[in-house]
Amino acid sequence: MTAFELTRLLPADHFAKALREDARRGLTAPAKWLPPKWFYDKRGSELFEDITKLPEYYPTRAERAILTERATEIAALTGARTLVELGSGSSEKTRLLLDALHGLGTLETYVPVDVSESALREAGRQLALDYPKLTVHGVVSDFTATLGLPRAVRGPKLVAFLGGTLGNLTPTERAAFLAALRAELAPGDSLLLGTDLVKDPAVLVAAYDDAAGVTAEFNKNLLNVLDRELDAGFDPEAFEHVALWDAEQEWIEMRLRSLREQQVAVPALELTVAFAEGEELRTEISAKFRREKVAAELAEADFELHEWWTDAEGRFGLSLAQPV
Ligand code: AVJ
Repeated sequence: MTAFELTRLLPADHFAKALREDARRGLTAPAKWLPPKWFYDKRGSELFEDITKLPEYYPTRAERAILTERATEIAALTGARTLVELGSGSSEKTRLLLDALHGLGTLETYVPVDVSESALREAGRQLALDYPKLTVHGVVSDFTATLGLPRAVRGPKLVAFLGGTLGNLTPTERAAFLAALRAELAPGDSLLLGTDLVKDPAVLVAAYDDAAGVTAEFNKNLLNVLDRELDAGFDPEAFEHVALWDAEQEWIEMRLRSLREQQVAVPALELTVAFAEGEELRTEISAKFRREKVAAELAEADFELHEWWTDAEGRFGLSLAQPV
């Protein structure tokens, strides 16, 4: 029997409070914005799973191809006893790592960390069936706020941060995040980091503005989250999905553009938000990287880039780094 344990690192009301704070700050700012973590309610997580299967959305397939090719090597290089995964979601790609580490015989514990308790429970239950000797210790946490890996985990540990989610953070947030992560690692531990790479803007934009409109629905679902959680009066139909490439910052930006002038009530914040026609609400940045930039940001946080792998088409980068 696999042991499944769940730890909630944050107080029960953390997410309700954090959403209120983010919404108040973002919706009253001169240039309106909301952090992308609020996309991922149950519906949003399902829509993201659908996105990963779209013909235009290559990152998931590209990263899976690298992991398929390199998992055995990663296992041998890290010899991990504990695999920690940040933003584990459905833990689908993780199986490649779990299988390789299991095969090597070093792995004892898998620690998926996610904001979604339901995703953790679902993944934990499935893993319990498939890896009878593994201890699964799910952690409900917001790694953009506190990392807080369980103290008891035995090293060497491998921390995996996949999918390109690092790119959702601004450069300042990335520096703080990597420094906080570094502080939780000891010599002999490793970081496995997935980053989407700079490429033809047409390919990038298509990945965030697919023909079937799934990403548009994912983007607009954020408004449903605000309506449900804050009793807000957003009409998703009154906004259009925008995805654009910022060539200077080298990131994709997703926005929701108001189709008309409108006032939206947000009762939980005792706030009414005015939108001009064409006014945009920024909902996500997704930064794209080059090898040198990844190496430099890792070095800044006292990590050394040990291995750098890409898929055959050079679309996605996977880094293995160690504390200096
Ligand atoms: C899960 C953050 C990696 O930025 O590509 C997909 C989220 N947003 N389509 C990304 C996302 C729009 C995705 N990450």
